[in-house]
Amino acid sequence: MALMAWKDAYSVGNALLDSQHKQLIELVNDVNGDADLGEVLDGLRQYGEAHFRAEEDLLEAARYPDLEQHREHHEAFRAWLAEVIAARRSGGDAAVVRRDVHHYLSIWLANHLLVADKAFEPWLE
Ligand SMILES: [Fe+2]
Repeated sequence: MALMAWKDAYSVGNALLDSQHKQLIELVNDVNGDADLGEVLDGLRQYGEAHFRAEEDLLEAARYPDLEQHREHHEAFRAWLAEVIAARRSGGDAAVVRRDVHHYLSIWLANHLLVADKAFEPWLE
């Protein structure tokens, strides 16, 4: 699976959120690498907690009108990840989990980062 790279076009115009989005791309790449799967999943969980909170706080302060819908996207990510972690703990095949996680995250980057997150860029200016 091809490694992903950050592009300036992904920027949402906020240094903190951009650095967290870069971290997500690194985690996506780690899924494909030699990194321990449990650690990658734990990294994703910690990432989700910190990043979604930071993003939602900024959007709340900016009075972003689509915040509730955006929160639902984040909640869907959390629910998906909880299922993956549970599946892995109950003996899910690591190669299958890696492939599914990479697939979901690739779609998440395309749909969430490049569409839903880009949509709030003007509100953070
Ligand atoms: Fe987001």
